[in-house]
Amino acid sequence: MQAIRCVNYGAPSTLTLEDLPDPAPGRGQVVIETEAAGLGYVDALLVAGLYQVKTPLPFTPGSEVAGKVVALGEDAPAALMGKRVMALSPVGALAEKIALPAATCIPVPAIMSAEAAAGFIVSYCTALYGFETCGHLKPGETVLVLGAAGGVGMAAIDVAKAMGATVVAAASTEEKRKAAVARGADFAIDYTAPDWRKTLEPLTGRRDVDLVYDPVGGDMSETAFRCLAPGGRHLVVGFAAGDIPRIPLNLPLLKRSSIVGVDWGGYVRADPAANIPLLRTLTDWASEGRINPEPSASFPLAQAPSVLQRLLDRESIGKPVIHFRQ
Ligand SMILES: NC(=O)c1ccc[n+]([C@@H]2O[C@H](COP(=O)([O-])OP(=O)(O)OC[C@H]3O[C@@H](n4cnc5c(N)ncnc54)[C@H](OP(=O)(O)O)[C@@H]3O)[C@@H](O)[C@H]2O)c1
Repeated sequence: MQAIRCVNYGAPSTLTLEDLPDPAPGRGQVVIETEAAGLGYVDALLVAGLYQVKTPLPFTPGSEVAGKVVALGEDAPAALMGKRVMALSPVGALAEKIALPAATCIPVPAIMSAEAAAGFIVSYCTALYGFETCGHLKPGETVLVLGAAGGVGMAAIDVAKAMGATVVAAASTEEKRKAAVARGADFAIDYTAPDWRKTLEPLTGRRDVDLVYDPVGGDMSETAFRCLAPGGRHLVVGFAAGDIPRIPLNLPLLKRSSIVGVDWGGYVRADPAANIPLLRTLTDWASEGRINPEPSASFPLAQAPSVLQRLLDRESIGKPVIHFRQ
């Protein structure tokens, strides 16, 4: 089988496309023939060796996979054979086949394409966990999504709209703002412009927002926090800008607002069963057409390095997915 390999930490251009032996399923495992693999900013950091946890070399990048079960290990449920499933794995998704514990495989709803499923679990579960469990979002509230045209941002727009929010998308280019509005955002603002806070009121009729969804960090976070109305919630999701902001502690007091960490990965590691209701809600919403998790673009395996480079270069729009069809 073909797989993308990271032999040394570095730029995505150092990744290689190699022929590897097919994986054999261990006890309780299945082998998935990969149809699609989702990519995100975190994958580019892992390849660079810059993520909090370093993956031992060499490895096959990619943590989100969708495909068909083609082999069963001892004790794996026979009912999974031939089924289309989606799953998360620490690494290994950028390969034509991957062996994973059967318990981590989730059936793909009939309505969802393999590409949609591969880009679904991380970004959509993070959004629902963030808005529902951490942010207590209520219908009619206004949400400001930073980095709104990124993979995590686009899912946040979709989920916030499904929960009845008004969504303001913040993004750096006209092309990204158009993509965020096409995804369902009610308004879009350029948060790289000076005094961008002042652009909220002419657009929305309000000077403030109820929630901030923040996968960006850096200089944007404090200004976004200052946009909150009393009772507001700033959801800390990630730091794609690189810098971790340090917000003065008098601000939450003066704004009567909270800063809430959204560590969906940690939440699921602590209690894997806790993700089941999130996934059930999201797959129901997808089946009902309340959310539309189709990725923005799909690329062949050989282009995975350039897809990762575009994420690092802030050029990617939406959730990029690698497809394995010929
Ligand atoms: N908390 C969780 O459980 C969880 C789960 C998944 C991901 N995350 C985190 O969420 C963040 C976003 O991931 P993603 O996959 O959505 O990434 P992405 O597709 O690259 O989107 C990130 C967005 O951040 C903005 N940005 C600002 N400065 C940037 C810079 N210097 N380099 C790159 N992007 C920059 C860009 O929008 P503009 O150009 O419009 O500014 C970009 O669209 C990552 O930090 C990731 O670790 C957290």
